[in-house]
Amino acid sequence: MKVAVLGAAGGIGQALALLLKTQLPAGSALSLYDIAPVTPGVAVDLSHIPTDVDVKGFAGEDSSAALVDADIVLISAGVARKPGMDRSDLFNINAGIVKNLVQKCADNCPKALIGIITNPVNTTVAIAAEVLKKAGVYDKNRLFGITTLDVIRSETFIAAAKGLNVADVKVNVIGGHSGVTILPLLSQVEGVTFTDEEVAALTTRIQNAGTEVVEAKAGGGSATLSMGQAACRFGLSLVRGLQGEANVIECAYVDGGSEHAEFFAQPVLLGKQGAEKVFEYGDVSAFEADARDSMLVTLKGDIELGINFVK
Ligand code: NAI
Repeated sequence: MKVAVLGAAGGIGQALALLLKTQLPAGSALSLYDIAPVTPGVAVDLSHIPTDVDVKGFAGEDSSAALVDADIVLISAGVARKPGMDRSDLFNINAGIVKNLVQKCADNCPKALIGIITNPVNTTVAIAAEVLKKAGVYDKNRLFGITTLDVIRSETFIAAAKGLNVADVKVNVIGGHSGVTILPLLSQVEGVTFTDEEVAALTTRIQNAGTEVVEAKAGGGSATLSMGQAACRFGLSLVRGLQGEANVIECAYVDGGSEHAEFFAQPVLLGKQGAEKVFEYGDVSAFEADARDSMLVTLKGDIELGINFVK
């Protein structure tokens, strides 16, 4: 199994690379790429950790060498938010970065599963899809927007609010990955009930959790360590699916035939071909149905922006 991380010298990239070096199955290869010249050094640093995962680092303008034979590519290259910015402010820089890197994936590893972390995810995934379509290698089952951070935040905040063991909390988060498009389905969480006030407060906290980190870091960036963990969880789930493990399910932002939008985050069964099946997200409360319906203008606009950027 070969996993490539693009943007590997960044805050997320380094955390993710460390977690993958210690958690990928024995015999795997980890391929790190970033424009930053430090990247081969990040790989040397990681290579001193005694696990059976081979690490190589690549820097410079061309990511091709890092991508050849990759089974999975996780992309966190780009700029992150500073206080006062929302994710859409990142579009001007990150759209071009994602477009170029996904073109390189099409050229060098057209069958790889691609997970996009770079924001604005609602838009960068649409950009990736258009690039792959133009290259004639698009397979909707192999492209994912990574929304796992919204899931782990939901698990953490729900467990804390209700005094639960966090390992037992399971929650679907649907929609997209920014502000009102992030919708945790609290009504489905087993073994707990929430008052209307709790639902409103928890939903808002989950939607704004990224901003909580941006403000706390006071200009030093956005979530990197929790995102590294989230991307590692999702990346390892992709690996387990590729290796034929049964019942590997994660929420992800996919082109899964949703009635709501061309891309929509919902539970996905991961397997040997990537997304084997996209599940219905089940019954929702009146509050959730309303939140879902009112996010769609924003979500569709974000998707349209990505499609038009490539066209
Ligand atoms: P960072 O600034 O620490 O790292 C970004 C890295 O990308 C840098 O090392 C930089 O050299 C590299 N880079 C820039 N242009 C590149 C190119 N053309 N090719 C290869 N590498 C390139 O940023 P951080 O904190 O790691 O965030 C990365 C991205 O992830 C941001 O867009 C951020 O908004 C997004 N993010 C996504 C989350 C999600 O839930 N999906 C959560 C948190 C952040």
